[in-house]
Amino acid sequence: MTDCHEGTRSPMELYEKLTAQGDTVRALKTAKAEKAEIEAAVQLLLKLKVDYKQMTGQDYKAGCPPSENSVAPDNGPAADGVDGEDTVDPWNVSTTNAKGVDYDKLIVRFGSSKIDKELVDRIEKVSGQKPHHFLRRGIFFSHRDMHQVLDAYEKHKSFYLYTGRGPSSEAMHVGHLIPFIFTKWLQDVFDIPLVIQLTDDEKYLWKDLTLEECHRFAVENAKDIIACGFDVNKTFIFSDLDYMGASPEFYRNVVKIQKHVTFNQVKGIFGFTDSDCIGKISFPAIQAAPSFSNSFPQIFRGRKDVQCLIPCAIDQDPYFRMTRDVAPRIGYPKPALLHSTFFPALQGAQTKMSASDANSSIFLTDTPKQIKNKINKHAFSGGKDTVEEHRKYGGNPEVDVSFMYLTFFLEDDEQLEKIRQDYASGALLTGELKKILIETLQPMIAQHQERRKQVTDETVKQFMTPRPLNCNF
Ligand code: TRP
Repeated sequence: MTDCHEGTRSPMELYEKLTAQGDTVRALKTAKAEKAEIEAAVQLLLKLKVDYKQMTGQDYKAGCPPSENSVAPDNGPAADGVDGEDTVDPWNVSTTNAKGVDYDKLIVRFGSSKIDKELVDRIEKVSGQKPHHFLRRGIFFSHRDMHQVLDAYEKHKSFYLYTGRGPSSEAMHVGHLIPFIFTKWLQDVFDIPLVIQLTDDEKYLWKDLTLEECHRFAVENAKDIIACGFDVNKTFIFSDLDYMGASPEFYRNVVKIQKHVTFNQVKGIFGFTDSDCIGKISFPAIQAAPSFSNSFPQIFRGRKDVQCLIPCAIDQDPYFRMTRDVAPRIGYPKPALLHSTFFPALQGAQTKMSASDANSSIFLTDTPKQIKNKINKHAFSGGKDTVEEHRKYGGNPEVDVSFMYLTFFLEDDEQLEKIRQDYASGALLTGELKKILIETLQPMIAQHQERRKQVTDETVKQFMTPRPLNCNF
């Protein structure tokens, strides 16, 4: 294995060390070396990559030695998981680390900024509300331009929120709710309008589904989204298949964006190839368009300069790097962003949950019994094999999925901290930890189901009708 790289001077030297370390990782994997050994080699590789990016402003790419011109950090290429690095793009999330993706490194790779204590304190000051626990606990961990949004808000220049969902099936799981729960909080504390894009067109292009199925999923998913408690007077939910044809202003923005992004650029950002259908290649323009306020003339009365803030999971960032790159070129403000971490699969934090594997997730339709069984059977445990060992050495909350889920859903900070300490010391057993999670999720899901039942077709229609919202634009 390559030894410590302290003292490496030039980008070229670092580049060569990186290439050698990449070879080492591949060789270890081919030789099926011990997991710990591979892990250590991958960690060193990642560290070298971060150093390289810091030194050169460029992402390391095998076969591409450092060049003189530095890359604008805002528009870095898609993360592609080469050489054992975490993979994070709109279609894949995976890592070899049981603790999950290394988010600090993603910030460096994507060129975004960390949501630090200073920003959290500022959000508290400006909004006058205790920050949401997703902010306090680093679940929303990265941002672009949030300070500018707050500067403007303090000067009475308001903004709007934009988020979305790709309706790939009827079944939504708890992980899908994270951006919506947080967006609802933002809407409440800042008292601002919100647009929610349902990309039924995207799912038609990417999956083996009919247009009718995708559209139906969009409407069904809208019910779960509405059940999060959004204010109908401040929220517009739209299906692309419906709204694109109904709004000339929206389509005009799509075309403007399409004219200003080349095939080469989307290839670099999204990894499209010559055999991808042209619908996929032009789709990013459709996800970008809601970032511009004049796509919604009924809400913003033709204004094109209303600032947009997008809460989303970090895997959506490639779309918005592209959007921020074109915005000034077509005369619009760049959208600001708040990025969340992924919600881990029950099997462990190496990957995010998948709607296609019933046992990887807690679904919004699960019964109390299903919730209990899934957690007891499938939630990856950081506990020890026997009670004796567990009492003696304690469990590891950092890799324990039940504990991770509690950081998402147990609001009481003190209670959470006590659970963490007791689990780590061995005072709390895995079964007891799981019981706390089960008792947290069962009522939460039941309440969601109750609220969803109240959502009628008429309510959905209201949310999905283009109309003025209650706001001062
Ligand atoms: N592409 C996203 C998905 O597959 C859906 C989406 C569209 C979205 N616009 C968005 C997500 C804005 C977050 C923010 O889920």
